[in-house]
Amino acid sequence: MSKIKDYSLADHGRSSYFWAKSHMKILEHSISELARKKPLQGYTIASSLQLTKETSVLLMGIKSLGANVIASGGNPLTTQDDVAAFLHSEGITVYAWSDQSKTEYDWCQNMALSHKPDIIIDDGGDLNAKAHFGRFSKLHILGATEETTTGITRYLAMQKKGKLRYPIIAVNNARTKMMFDNRYGTGQSTVDALLRSAGVLLASKKVVVCGYGWLGKGVAQRCAGMGAKILVTEVDPIKALEAHMDGFEVLTMKKASKLGDIFITCTGMSDVIRKEHMLQMKNGAILANVGHFDVEIDTRFLLGKKTRQARPNLDECTLGGRKLYLVAKGRVANLVAAEGHPPEVMALSFSNQIRCILHLVKNGKKMRSLVHGVRQEIDNAVALDALKSMGVKIDTLSKRQIQYAKSW
Ligand code: ADE
Repeated sequence: MSKIKDYSLADHGRSSYFWAKSHMKILEHSISELARKKPLQGYTIASSLQLTKETSVLLMGIKSLGANVIASGGNPLTTQDDVAAFLHSEGITVYAWSDQSKTEYDWCQNMALSHKPDIIIDDGGDLNAKAHFGRFSKLHILGATEETTTGITRYLAMQKKGKLRYPIIAVNNARTKMMFDNRYGTGQSTVDALLRSAGVLLASKKVVVCGYGWLGKGVAQRCAGMGAKILVTEVDPIKALEAHMDGFEVLTMKKASKLGDIFITCTGMSDVIRKEHMLQMKNGAILANVGHFDVEIDTRFLLGKKTRQARPNLDECTLGGRKLYLVAKGRVANLVAAEGHPPEVMALSFSNQIRCILHLVKNGKKMRSLVHGVRQEIDNAVALDALKSMGVKIDTLSKRQIQYAKSW
């Protein structure tokens, strides 16, 4: 039996599902081709994904392939309650609701694991981490897939210590995932979150983008497109050089903190914007995080100051006569203050997810308990499907060219 916030929201969630589905044609295409064969019959699949309209398309798809699907959220704040109600009404067991405490979030994940899943789909690594400790460490799990960079970082640390007990496919690292979802998805949904929460003009503002991975690149590009001046902070010299050559000003956090009007952390690292930086910021500066965990901005310091809610998802914190504004309490702003990535990019990510789950079903028993990359043929197939759905045709190499590439 599910536990969700409001069962009466199912019809609203259904409309959101159909809207998302109509923009996720490539996903639908790969599912409908397989649905007759029910390749996931007999498998229980537990997910810890952001429960959005896009995720409902993935989970309904997995169900149509025969799986018993159990859904928990990917974050205590990001569940869309109408989506949870819709999935429940369709026979998916859901343990998730918006605005959860950490204890409630943990309870939901424990409930998901109590269904003894064969496969886990994770976003951030919380469910897989739980499946490695205490009573859940005895569960027989065929394998897992991971949606985000943070999860993979955690599994690599586990792998290094020899602790991984089943194979995990790093869906995040597929090129058709990170180059699109992480860049264009985060880029657009971050602008969306800034507009919904703060609703200020971006043109002419100095936007400090902390981290120039795919997320940071997307955020920088999209904010620049809105007329903002982009400042970038980085610790990786190659990414810093790239940002510099992309035409952005690269500088230290110490310097940037005095200059920025808006700060966006996109690093996956903790302690990026600290007390000493906030003490230097201009009156009225806005801070947001789009990394997976709320560890990038020292929110304990900021929210420990005199605070009031200025607008939905925007806290005004008073610091020695100046006011700083924090979006979504430093949680992943594009999902909390907006709706997450748009369906077209999530279709690419979730197409990878489905193909990798099918790969696990076929090959999981033979795979070593390591973090595995997405196979090149899966990545290519997703891109070709996407191009086809967009009506884009590309060239292929001639025999002569293939021969040329082989010769030295
Ligand atoms: N992560 C970011 N955006 C998302 C979305 N729309 N659905 C699921 N996970 C997401």
